[in-house]
Amino acid sequence: MRNAALFDLSGRKALVTGASRGIGRSLAEALSAAGADVAVTARSLDSLDETAAAIRAAGGVAHAIALDVTDVERCRAAVGEAARLLGGLDILINNAGVEEVRPSLDVDEALWDRIVDTNLKGAFFCAQAAARQMRDAGRPGAIINLCSLTSEVGIPTAVPYGSSKSGLLGMTRALAAEWAQLGIRVNAIAPGYFRTAMTEAFYDNEAWRQSMLAKIPQHRFGDLRDLHGVAVFLASDAAAYITGQSIPVDGGFLASI
Ligand SMILES: NC(=O)c1ccc[n+]([C@@H]2O[C@H](COP(=O)([O-])OP(=O)(O)OC[C@H]3O[C@@H](n4cnc5c(N)ncnc54)[C@H](OP(=O)(O)O)[C@@H]3O)[C@@H](O)[C@H]2O)c1
Repeated sequence: MRNAALFDLSGRKALVTGASRGIGRSLAEALSAAGADVAVTARSLDSLDETAAAIRAAGGVAHAIALDVTDVERCRAAVGEAARLLGGLDILINNAGVEEVRPSLDVDEALWDRIVDTNLKGAFFCAQAAARQMRDAGRPGAIINLCSLTSEVGIPTAVPYGSSKSGLLGMTRALAAEWAQLGIRVNAIAPGYFRTAMTEAFYDNEAWRQSMLAKIPQHRFGDLRDLHGVAVFLASDAAAYITGQSIPVDGGFLASI
């Protein structure tokens, strides 16, 4: 086999949550470019339709499915719908996420629940529904969770978010151990600093930009394309013997703190 074939996702069926914009949309496009048929989900159907249309315009297969991942029954229904539309399910990217910084003394239950239910509970129940599909179909699978630098380090005023992303890393490891017997690999990507709707407000602050750049050995912020290779790799046969791992894509940030 030529080495490139190891990374080929032709014929694979993938579901990406939170794919209406930002990292999720970019990863859905990357999986499609590698050959996968994709289902894209988010709450806002208009933006999601744009993602699906862009993938189809580039020659790919894409279906848009509305999904709020905080609704467990909708997670199950959307995963089932994706498998039906695609003709199976091999890859899940748990990307849907929300963040809001607030001093911990001021965090209320509503903020905690919104962040943890989206980033952690939603990811678990999407993973469970996908794994049931894979098990019932007798097909191996790859699940990729979007972790964060806050999975590894403590960031002040980001405690609900950091708790959800640390939990997601623990979940990645535990599910990897539990589902290896089903042929399902569970890994994570930990992006560093990428400018998206989620993080946009920080980038307008020049003092913040300069202080962050000083902490990133490659001295630049991430480009969404920097995440493509690792996502395709983890989804593909090239990563067949890798499970329970989180790969930072951060320009060297974590390695140097
Ligand atoms: N940007 C970064 O620097 C960075 C760094 C580390 C980790 N991450 C992680 O990467 C992932 C993507 O982040 P991003 O920067 O691309 O953020 P983003 O631009 O705000 O996109 C978030 C996506 O999640 C969807 N979403 C939010 N709440 C949802 C819900 N309840 N149900 C379903 N979908 C929901 C949004 O669509 P709707 O609003 O339409 O639902 C959107 O498609 C997140 O998990 C984030 O924590 C980002």
